[in-house]
Amino acid sequence: MKDLFEKIYKDKGPLGKWASQAEGYFVFPKLEGEISNRMKFQGKDVITWSINDYLGLANHPEVRKVDAEAAAQYGSAYPMGARMMSGHTDLHERLQNELAEFVSKESAYLLNFGYQGMVSTIDALVSKDDIIVYDVDAHACIIDGVRLHMGKRFTYKHNDVASLEKNLERATKMAEQTGGGILVISEGVFGMRGEQGRLKEIVALKQKFNFRLFVDDAHGFGTLGATGAGTGEEQGVQDDIDVYFATFAKSLASTGAFIAGDKEIIDYLKYNLRSQMFAKSLQMQLVAGALKRLDMLKTMPELKAKLWENVNALQSGLKDKGFDIGTTQSCVTPVYLKGSIPEAMALVKDLRENHGVFCSIVVYPVIPKGLILLRLIPTATHTLEDVSETLNAFDAIRTRLENGTYKRLSASVAAAMGE
Ligand SMILES: Cc1ncc(COP(=O)(O)O)c(C=O)c1O
Repeated sequence: MKDLFEKIYKDKGPLGKWASQAEGYFVFPKLEGEISNRMKFQGKDVITWSINDYLGLANHPEVRKVDAEAAAQYGSAYPMGARMMSGHTDLHERLQNELAEFVSKESAYLLNFGYQGMVSTIDALVSKDDIIVYDVDAHACIIDGVRLHMGKRFTYKHNDVASLEKNLERATKMAEQTGGGILVISEGVFGMRGEQGRLKEIVALKQKFNFRLFVDDAHGFGTLGATGAGTGEEQGVQDDIDVYFATFAKSLASTGAFIAGDKEIIDYLKYNLRSQMFAKSLQMQLVAGALKRLDMLKTMPELKAKLWENVNALQSGLKDKGFDIGTTQSCVTPVYLKGSIPEAMALVKDLRENHGVFCSIVVYPVIPKGLILLRLIPTATHTLEDVSETLNAFDAIRTRLENGTYKRLSASVAAAMGE
């Protein structure tokens, strides 16, 4: 019989196998200094384009003050226990009510972490006779939630409504046999490439098929819609989203998340979300901090306006220079370049060290071989100067990518990697 660890000694996994070349620089980098548009990386000043602090609330003095006061008043422990047992407070309830009202739903329920909350919500919404139909490019938390499902599931092609329709036909036939129902899951904004989920067209399929729609709006909440209530508001279909999810980890620059929907459904989930029932309640400073952030989101539209000024300047600047930014319809700004993984590594080093630009890099196997995806997240704290410096840097790296500089610089890495 094998030792359980044998496979771990041999195979570090699809990302882990790059650890010796990548750790500390491409993965697990340490950004230092106050969270803002400019931070330090390995002692150098960099413009940071990799932080989901869309509205610039992370380090806003009013937010920091409320966080500090709540921490001083309650400490980190309060309240002790799971919500159901001893971890419930007026403040938790108030935050839920305000969130529900903001996203135009009857009721909301807090989640300690978005990821776990998504997994548990999917788990609680379906039983083995039900069928899940979900976008093939769904976030890992959706995939993990679906993994818990004991019944059938179908994926549809990314953001492809015709493919969804085909799969709804299959799912409907199956549900007629099992006696179950259908849950469709989409993201509001797909975080890697920035497209909005085609919620309007998905909702229109409710005329033809009987299903419930669950939307993960992590990137849409706070950034889209007239009031910032998210992708459903932006597309005019908020009422048709049966269960709405958003995290505090992006626009609200904190930790925690929530689901919202009809009271009867949220009440059911409250009693059936295993990751919340059997885990400690969200700490008080996170609850008080989220109330403050939500208030600022509602009362300071200038934050979203500044965010979008930066998004528009960055995206139109990149397009004017002939960069391929795909089909983004949100703040998420992908830049697609052609090159190998070693070239991508040399390019990112150049960007960070010689141009002071820090953004995330995505390569195969997350995207097709031969493509490099640089992902930029504008925030309200960026300036138009940050944008123009970044555009100049992108011009420079594209020239060096195309004239083979990075190929030469990375030749020894490429040889070691067998590229
Ligand atoms: C689409 C999406 N869903 C869910 C999550 C998980 O949220 P959290 O960070 O609150 O666990 C994320 C990442 O933050 C996300 O991008």
